[in-house]
Amino acid sequence: MKSIWESEPPASESEHSERLLLQRAITSSKNGITIGRALNGQFPLIYANPAFYRLTGFAPGEVIGQDCRFLQQGHKEQPGLQTLRCALAQGAEATVLLRNFRKDGTEFWNELTVSPVLNESGALTHYVGIQHDVTERENGAQAITALNRALSLRGEELKQTNDSLRAFSSSASHDLRAPLASIKGFCTMLKKSADLPQDSRSAHYLARIEANADRMGQLIEAMLALAQSTARALNVGLCDLSRMAREVIATSHTSSPELDAQVHIEPGLMAWGDPLLLHSVLQNLLGNALKYSSTTPGARVHFGREPGGVADARFFVRDNGAGFDMKNASRLFDAFQRFHSEDEFPGTGVGLATVHRIVTRHGGVVSAESAPGAGAVFYFSLGTPCVAP
Ligand SMILES: Cc1cc2nc3c(=O)[nH]c(=O)nc-3n(C[C@H](O)[C@H](O)[C@H](O)COP(=O)(O)O)c2cc1C
Repeated sequence: MKSIWESEPPASESEHSERLLLQRAITSSKNGITIGRALNGQFPLIYANPAFYRLTGFAPGEVIGQDCRFLQQGHKEQPGLQTLRCALAQGAEATVLLRNFRKDGTEFWNELTVSPVLNESGALTHYVGIQHDVTERENGAQAITALNRALSLRGEELKQTNDSLRAFSSSASHDLRAPLASIKGFCTMLKKSADLPQDSRSAHYLARIEANADRMGQLIEAMLALAQSTARALNVGLCDLSRMAREVIATSHTSSPELDAQVHIEPGLMAWGDPLLLHSVLQNLLGNALKYSSTTPGARVHFGREPGGVADARFFVRDNGAGFDMKNASRLFDAFQRFHSEDEFPGTGVGLATVHRIVTRHGGVVSAESAPGAGAVFYFSLGTPCVAP
């Protein structure tokens, strides 16, 4: 039997060399190329190129005269097949993704393009099929889809855990306030009562109870602030950090006049962020700077922005106070971590955890440099470019 290249003798020398070129192109193609004759809705193959045999593992004798559906091994419920059937029935072109099987039973993803061939009177005579092995691409895509699904499930789980933790800490903090207020109320009543001599042991115990109740109150407020630092949605606007810092310092002078460091606030420090949350960042960082420099003669606190860093402005709060050992730095931003005793410097150990959460939520980074007795500097960025005043 003549091959399809020889069915009609070439009319001229140039037609002959053109045929040879076409033959070369088809036989050297990396994709499978097949030609099926249109025969009562079937398309038995009259040609398949070498790439098709390499891809499927079949030999010409097993393929020629057969309709390619044998590659599906009975897997008929494929979405691509429905589209393909419609196109073939209408004599139209189509590209579909099919799950096919090689002779040895192994599976591959076949991106099949079928194009109709019409005779001079417009009747469908053949179909050309191009088989593109896209197994790697599809497996990769499926792995990504599976990974994305797993990630979104994990994200949902984390969100639920976070929501319940937040709800717990917020309701715990709220619910603790009432009994605490009651303890303080009774302490006050006891203090005023005539039965309690001022310098008695009982009066001393009462003062201790009151001090501890106060401390618990501070812890509850700090826990609430920490919960709130992630609870509400970010409400981003342009913030004047210099103005915020001046307000923080003014409030501190009123409430704690003993913290009398010399404070320098650089003017015109602007940033995009949530004003309430950024206020809390400055309150914590400046509050710490004032507190830890309170025992240093000639205490100085400086709030500014590092030069350069146009793409991601870095602000800092520097003090020349007690400082801390950098070997503890990894725990610095964890809640309830304290590097100084309560007698030395009072505090809740929640402030820096709050700062960390807020800065991270803004897409920024917070870090610190310090040494015992050499002061500390806290840097923070907000993941946004430098804003001109
Ligand atoms: C030229 C040509 C090449 C084809 N190549 C493939 C193929 O590689 N893999 C496949 O699963 N189906 C291929 N098909 C489709 C099947 O041969 C068949 O037409 C399709 O499965 C619809 O028949 P069905 O209704 O029996 O499923 C090709 C069809 C034509 C016309």
